[in-house]
Amino acid sequence: MKRSLLAIVASATLATSAVAAESVEVLHWWTSGGEAAALGVLKKDLEGQGVTWNDMPVAGGGGEAAMTALRARVTSGNPPSAVQALGFDITDWAKQGVVADLNSLAKAENWDKVVPTALQKFSKYDGKWIAAPVNVHSTNWVWANKAVLEKAGVKEMPATWDQFIAALDKVQKAGFIGLAHGGQAWQDATLFDGVVLATGGVEFYNKAFVQKDPKALNSATMVKAFDRMKQLRSYVDKDFSNRDWNLASAMVIEGKAGFQIMGDWAKGEFLNAKKVPNKDFACFRVPGTQGMVSFNSDQFLMFKVGAASAGAQLKLAKAIMNPSFQSAFNVVKGSVPARTDVPNTAFDACGKKGMADLAEANKSGKLVGSMAHGHAVPASIKNGFYDAITAQFNGSMTSAAAAKAMAQAAE
Ligand code: BGC
Repeated sequence: MKRSLLAIVASATLATSAVAAESVEVLHWWTSGGEAAALGVLKKDLEGQGVTWNDMPVAGGGGEAAMTALRARVTSGNPPSAVQALGFDITDWAKQGVVADLNSLAKAENWDKVVPTALQKFSKYDGKWIAAPVNVHSTNWVWANKAVLEKAGVKEMPATWDQFIAALDKVQKAGFIGLAHGGQAWQDATLFDGVVLATGGVEFYNKAFVQKDPKALNSATMVKAFDRMKQLRSYVDKDFSNRDWNLASAMVIEGKAGFQIMGDWAKGEFLNAKKVPNKDFACFRVPGTQGMVSFNSDQFLMFKVGAASAGAQLKLAKAIMNPSFQSAFNVVKGSVPARTDVPNTAFDACGKKGMADLAEANKSGKLVGSMAHGHAVPASIKNGFYDAITAQFNGSMTSAAAAKAMAQAAE
């Protein structure tokens, strides 16, 4: 009698813990202060629904290290439930037949209607929704410390390339570092997104990076873009090699440097440091790219998991796509919502500008996928582009040789 009672108690305990044990394992590279704060919004949402969050952070911007870690897990037949992934990386995984099918949820919630088509190109494969987009970032942004610019006598935010160079000169002459930068291939490439847009415009960008036209890749315009990279290189401090992007942001935040060219995840660092847009810092488009947006979208790619984990995985996808969550999350992350029906009311000045720029660029055909963040070409080609960009930035390749190497990488 006593034993069976115990057994009943034990099995009841087991049943409750089985419910409580509903969990997701999430692989991501959001390890900086601002990124962790944004991720916290998602974790809290899930935990509020009784879903345990098993965190699998793999540091490294652009997600290269994360994709390598993922490969090992998929190869051993044990993928995490959800993975932060970018652009062509998503569809590359889908080709392997290892991803989940979210169509029933997507249909019920009308994702086809509310997610911008530029994102759907990557969220869907073979007619199936396989990923839930959490944001839209863009790479052609400059972040500036207003007090530094004032001390350097820079009165207005530069609007043209020449004005930008003149402002960098002034900042440098006033004893600050002109451009905060971290010498990592993906960061060099992030600069290049904006520089190529500023130099050749949207049509050239698409010809070179999307259509991989060898004549555009190995052209006088591309050489000019590389020459501009060399110009930028002269405003970077001597300790830039391998510096993480958020440490470069910190140099602007702390008033050591004037500017950083970086995607709007940098804003997450400014906000995390309690800095206020238009008061402490300014956000503006890379001079010469006004009206253009080179976007990248973080999506949570869902993998095929057993029945025991599928319920929690759907809860995660549903939480990500919730409009009020998209507002709360992106306000902290620095990005803008991946749905067209989220109001801009909760966003700060830079966020409101980001949302307006995205809508306008989409309408005028000036929205392009970020090459640096996997939205123009697949990793196999992107990595070849990275090599040329980094070699030239570090002075081991001329501009002309780098343009030629870009064309070769696209072959
Ligand atoms: C991602 C951002 C992230 C940044 C730096 C980008 O590729 O899209 O979400 O904050 O890398 O880690």
